[in-house]
Parts: sequence; C-alpha cells; structure tokens
Amino acid sequence: MAARVTAFAPGRVNLIGEHTDYNDGLALPFAIGAGVTVRAEALEGGRIEAVAADLEGRDSFIIGRQRRVAGWRAFVRGAVAELSQAGFALRGARLVIHGGVPRGAGLSSSAALEVALCLALLHCSGAPDVDRVQLAKLCSRIENEWVGARTGLLDQLASLFGERDRALAIDFRSLEVKPVALELAGHKLVTLDSGERHAIAASGYNQRRAECARACELLGVASLRDAALEQAERLPAPLAQRVRHVVTENERVVLTAAALQRGDLPAVGRLLDASHSSLRDCFEVSTPAVEAAVARLRDAGAIGARIVGGGFGGHVLGLLAPDATPPEGAIEVCPGPGARLLNE
Ligand code: GLA
Repeated sequence: MAARVTAFAPGRVNLIGEHTDYNDGLALPFAIGAGVTVRAEALEGGRIEAVAADLEGRDSFIIGRQRRVAGWRAFVRGAVAELSQAGFALRGARLVIHGGVPRGAGLSSSAALEVALCLALLHCSGAPDVDRVQLAKLCSRIENEWVGARTGLLDQLASLFGERDRALAIDFRSLEVKPVALELAGHKLVTLDSGERHAIAASGYNQRRAECARACELLGVASLRDAALEQAERLPAPLAQRVRHVVTENERVVLTAAALQRGDLPAVGRLLDASHSSLRDCFEVSTPAVEAAVARLRDAGAIGARIVGGGFGGHVLGLLAPDATPPEGAIEVCPGPGARLLNE
C-alpha cells in the first residue's frame, strides 16, 4: 500500500463536438499539458485533511461523515463519498492540491481536479487499478451530485484517456474512445482567454441540458443522437435550434476527423467556424467577450476559431496558419498524456 502518492490529471481542449456528450453524440477532444496535481499521504484513522495550495483553503472531515459544501471542498467531499459508495475502502489521507488550469475557463479544471483526487485517494488506499471509463462516470457523478453541474463525460474521458500527439474520437453512446493522430502540418492550435469566467452550475448549461431532454420527449427519442433535422424543425423555439446544433455538430465531428486524416487543414478551419456559428446562433452559449476573443484570433490569421467547452465565457480556440503570429496572450496547446501517477 503506497503511503504517499502524487497524481496528475490534465485539463482538455475540445477540437470539435460541443454539447454533444450528454446527447449520446460525438466529440474530438485532447488532453493538454496543464492540469491539477494532488499529493496524498496516508493518515492514521479515517480523517481527510485537504489543502488547496493556490487558494490557501483547508478542509477536514471524517470519511463517511462528509456534509455538502460549496466551492473546491465539494470536489474533495464528493470524491470521497462517490469512491466509498462505489465500494472502495478509503484510508484517511492528507491531500495537497495544486491547480495549473485556470478555473472557469472552459479548459476543464473541474474534471482535472476530480480525476486527480480520485487517482490519489485510490492509490493511497492501495486500491487496484480501476477501469477508466467507470472512473470517468464516477468523476462525473461528483460534478452532477456534489457540485450541481449536470455535465456529461467529455472532460473526464479526455483527462483519463489523453495521449501525446493524439486527439480522441469519442462516441458517447458506446463510450468507445479512439485515439486519432492530430497532424497539423505546421498549423498551430491556440487558446485565447475571453477574460470572462463562469461557474458551470450557475451558467445556462443546466438549462441547455434540460432543453435537450425536453426535445427528446417531444420527438419520442431516447437521445438526440437519434433525432433527424427534419423532425427537429417542427419543434417550438428554442428547441428546434438546440436540436439543429446537436445534429449538425455530430456531423461536423465526423467531417473534421476525415479532414484531419487527409491533411485538409483549411476544411478543419471551416468546420471550427461552422461549429462556432452554431454554438452562437442555435445553442446560444456565446457572449460579447467570447465574440471579441474569436474576432482577435481571426484578425491574427486564424483559419478557424470557436468557443470551447460549455460556453458563456472562458477560453476560445483558434487554428492558425503556419505563418500567422498568435495574438498577445494566446497559448499554444498540444495533445499530451492523460492522468497518471508522478514519480517524485
Ligand atoms: C462542459 C461540460 C462537458 C461538455 C461541454 C460542452 O465542458 O463539462 O461535459 O458538455 O461543456 O461540450
């Protein structure tokens, strides 16, 4: 049993396939280099002591007696509760959390925190290696049940399955995760901060999810993966637009994977632009700050730019031609490895 472990889980960038995960659809994310590190040291007795190093905050509770709270502590308590509920016998531990992903920025700081916490707690307790799809589902329950954001599995799967130089073609119906080469022929993918922060639970995210569920009821389908555009157009506003986004976004994921495979970067750029327009006009998750950041990327020579993640602020993504100079503040992002233990 390891008395001391350090777990790292990366954030993610989603190349394309937004708001498709909770609709049994398709997406093409990749894990990035930035992430969250959790160092765990076993403690005698069943107490968890947690320190959020960047926030100068602390938490302390007995395993099994964690009450609900808000903020970063909800993730720690939720991780302990969900792992225990799933049958893992956790030991007491002292946890030190370091975050390297900006919070509320659309780069999935939440999933990185959930995944790093779970890996650290499991390994510190000597638990066997767990199935990563099951772990992604467990992490998503932390967010749904303890943090109050009805998010899907995109971020957790990307963080757990990330691979260097690869994007992940994810089918959320079968939960198949297929690594695909991300060859950019000299082009660069960059993120640019819109300067606007969001808390998913408080944004329009849960409302969008409810609208998709309502559209399914009206269409008589189990998920929007089974919806057809023609049927959708008969729905009342704004449900028709929401469904139009999801159906066409799934198509764009397939087209993007094909364009990447044949090295057609201009086509990838056009698909990113089309995704952005659909997220802005049909799914209505853009804001003036996001539009301004997208415009800055396009002015700098991006051949495609769009919202990433849930929307309502955060970072935007741009695909820059090889000779373009990124705007000030833009950060180049490359696919990196998924969550793992670090040797100290
Ligand atoms: C957030 C959620 C994900 C996904 C995206 C939108 O990042 O956590 O589950 O729904 O928004 O694609």
